[in-house]
Amino acid sequence: MKATAIAPSNIAFIKYWGTKDEVLRLPKNGSISMNLSNLLTTTTVEFSQSFKDDSVVFNGEKQALIDNRAIKHVERIRKLAHISTKVKVVTENNFPTGTGLSSSASGFAALTVAGARAAGLLLSKKELSILARQGSGSACRSIPDGFVEWLDGDTSETSYAVSLFPKEYWDIVDVVAVTSTNKKEVSSTEGHKLATTSLFLEKRLELNKQKMKLIKRYLKEKNFSAFGELVEAEALELHAIYITSHPSLIYLLPESLRLLHLVKKWREEGLEVYFTVNTGQDVHLICKKKDAKKVATFAAKVPGVQKTIINYPSNGARLVEEHLF
Ligand code: DP6
Repeated sequence: MKATAIAPSNIAFIKYWGTKDEVLRLPKNGSISMNLSNLLTTTTVEFSQSFKDDSVVFNGEKQALIDNRAIKHVERIRKLAHISTKVKVVTENNFPTGTGLSSSASGFAALTVAGARAAGLLLSKKELSILARQGSGSACRSIPDGFVEWLDGDTSETSYAVSLFPKEYWDIVDVVAVTSTNKKEVSSTEGHKLATTSLFLEKRLELNKQKMKLIKRYLKEKNFSAFGELVEAEALELHAIYITSHPSLIYLLPESLRLLHLVKKWREEGLEVYFTVNTGQDVHLICKKKDAKKVATFAAKVPGVQKTIINYPSNGARLVEEHLF
């Protein structure tokens, strides 16, 4: 059977960093995110007796299968469906990979939804989220719609994401500023393993519970200023963990730092915008919808910014009719 899914990437406002179970990808803390309308992965999966071997094609290029994360994920799907049929996976991203835009979130969410359907499984959103999480942690948040919480469970069954509010709930925008399309040197998966080498991780985890409560309150009240301040503080705390890990992880480039300084300046001048940054150099600029064009125009003029992508809150992963092959 053949199936195709489209899945969005998501931006975490409170972030997942460090795991309490590396294999199952159970995070050390809960997280909150928003799905992004214009950072998308499309994936077609087909299981067929006529295939002699598995194959994975990413952005037009055939991938090596040794240690391939997509094939490892297909194995999980095969196990659930009790099949051993060979697979063909064709996947495309409409945005740069490995630069801090969470392509693994959209990638594994799309692969999960298309793969499960192609294998004949009929899974609930919760089951899809649990399955996606095992491919890439943040992918579990790209399954439900809109504004999402990844519940801090201690078992695989209780560690999944749920929708807090639909996409229409709040018209905030994430203007992504792409500063470089070079891939980061240390992946998130490797980085998570280093989290415990930072002296500050324990403190971060202790504060996280309160931050989760606060971010949910600000979301509920639609208190954009308090929300933005907290989102920015959280991103800086995450980067404090990165730079104090052993070996240290320094993801911000001069261009990224330039943007962080400018965001503060633009705010002082009356443009209400806040930044957040993941494991990478690209900067997410969070603002109200009415300011999105202005923020994108300002960001595009900053030396070193290669392009900007305006994202609205979006639905999670979904099946579509049109296949890639
Ligand atoms: C900083 O989900 O990419 O973006 O589980 O190893 O695939 P793996 O890691 P990943 O880590 C995301 C880290 C983050 C924060 C977040 O999105 O919550």
